[in-house]
Amino acid sequence: MYRSHTCGELTAKDIGKSVVLSGWVDRIRDLGGIKFIILRDRYGKTQIVVTPESEAYKIAEELNREDVVKITGKVEKRPQDTVNPDMKTGEIEVFVDEMEVLSEAKLPPFYPGDNVREEVRLKYRYLDIRGGRVLRNLEVRHKVTQVVRRYLDSHNFIEVETPFLTKSTPEGARDFLVPSRLKPGTFYALPQSPQLFKQILMVSGIDRYYQLARCFRDEDLRADRQPEFTQIDIEMSFVKREDVMTLVEGMIRQVFKETLDVDLPGKFDRLSYEEAIGRYGSDKPDRRFGMELHELTDYFKETSFRIAKNVIDEGGYAKGFVVKNFADKMSRRLGDEFSAYVRDFGLGGVVWFSLKDGEMNSPTRKHLQKEYEAIGKYLKVNNGDVVIISFHKDWYLLSEALGALRLKIGKECFKDRIKGFDVLWVVDFPFLEWDEEESRWVARHHPFTMPVLEDLEKYRNDPGKIKALAYDIIINGYEVGGGSIRIHNRDIQEKVFELIGLTKEEAVKKFGFLLEAFEYGAPPHGGIALGLDRLVAIITGEESIRDVIAFPKTASGVCSLTGAPSEVDEKQLKELHIKLEVEE
Ligand code: AMO
Repeated sequence: MYRSHTCGELTAKDIGKSVVLSGWVDRIRDLGGIKFIILRDRYGKTQIVVTPESEAYKIAEELNREDVVKITGKVEKRPQDTVNPDMKTGEIEVFVDEMEVLSEAKLPPFYPGDNVREEVRLKYRYLDIRGGRVLRNLEVRHKVTQVVRRYLDSHNFIEVETPFLTKSTPEGARDFLVPSRLKPGTFYALPQSPQLFKQILMVSGIDRYYQLARCFRDEDLRADRQPEFTQIDIEMSFVKREDVMTLVEGMIRQVFKETLDVDLPGKFDRLSYEEAIGRYGSDKPDRRFGMELHELTDYFKETSFRIAKNVIDEGGYAKGFVVKNFADKMSRRLGDEFSAYVRDFGLGGVVWFSLKDGEMNSPTRKHLQKEYEAIGKYLKVNNGDVVIISFHKDWYLLSEALGALRLKIGKECFKDRIKGFDVLWVVDFPFLEWDEEESRWVARHHPFTMPVLEDLEKYRNDPGKIKALAYDIIINGYEVGGGSIRIHNRDIQEKVFELIGLTKEEAVKKFGFLLEAFEYGAPPHGGIALGLDRLVAIITGEESIRDVIAFPKTASGVCSLTGAPSEVDEKQLKELHIKLEVEE
């Protein structure tokens, strides 16, 4: 027997018991010849004591940190002054009779739990996971997937696996390709998502599908993006938008309840895309620190302040937001910094005023006092508040730049104001967006999303105005999921392909198998995919999804542990009919 108990379980009620424990040597202290050793496993830590009289003493003298040992001993009460109330096992210690080293550890590059660079942590991921933080996150991740599976199972969903070796899908990132040995010169694509398969499963009559699906996208990586990641992928037949959203709300509520004991609202807020941009300058707003954007154009209609006047006369806009209790921190220099920040987005800069001891402060007060006074009244500005304003002819650009500044100020200056969970839906997205590079319209979500049918006719000549039956779920400013009602009719699908400049031949070549399936009786359907990694990162409070993935890739797409991607043998390449031509 390796253990009678884990290292996280013995308490005062076990005093007097003989026990067997196994685990890693976390720490060794020598106090007057007596060895106090902390033994660690996934469940916790237990203090064990080896006295010189014990047969185990000789072994204990040779121990190193991170050795794996098994001990037999007796649970004793700790002397009152050494009780550790922060440890679950802090009331007891185990006096060792026998000790066996199960596995020796050489001096590690760092000890589990040490604060070291991420590259090093990823190279020695096993030591890093052993340290506890990532291990806890993996436990939460496991719990989330259990809740999801239970919830979806109880709502009649069945989990269906779809292929990894497949054809390009329409999510629009770059594909990872796998060369075929049996069909020289051809390639599989790893799925960017199971989108087309799940729609075909609806045609198959599966009715309610889900999958914890691994997806692969060769895109530039960030803290919330990995080249392979996991989706909670869902598709349902005979549903409207509200049905999908209600189902997902129930699932997210249950996940938060069971992992954090947090009660999310019975119904999540919904913002239209226009509203989200207008009020927060973002289609994934984090509303936790207020600072909503306001339309201030009317207050500058009569202005003589040149910069504002030029923009407004051109039909442009003024917008601004209030930063509460910020007057003490606000300065000319900071104002210049904010101006420089929004200039990167294409704005000219910002103007601002603050109210301090009943007095208005502003570098532009001379020119804009009247306007500022009116705005102060309108926005109910109080002593200590700062108002930041900017102007531009493009309302979206103005909103997005101020939205980014709002987020920067919120994150940098008001960390303490950011609490809890802000969950909402953003709906009524534009169906298309203009791709500058390819100079054509592309589907904002994907081309199988159902557009609002009346819009399709109405905005024939202004396709940017067509709305989609798409929805995103946003938590704390992260896009956690996105989905849509789908097109299930060939006519509409062809119209959409036409809009995005896809000829009939191209459409058939790319997605012919789906179009054909739609001709054999396709039910109306819709679905969604949630990023599991992002969801777990939010629940565990991690900044980066790398910390909730056992073996993530670095920012350059490398697996530090295995060294992948790596070169392969000439023989393997030959079998795959591949000749390399690597640029120096
Ligand atoms: P979409 O492309 O919006 O939709 O992806 C859904 C969710 O997946 C997560 N996600 C990522 N997470 C980590 N790393 C990445 N590189 C990454 N890319 C996306 C996000 C995102 O909201 N087939 C459609 C869904 C549908 O229409 O049903 C799709 O894949 O949280």
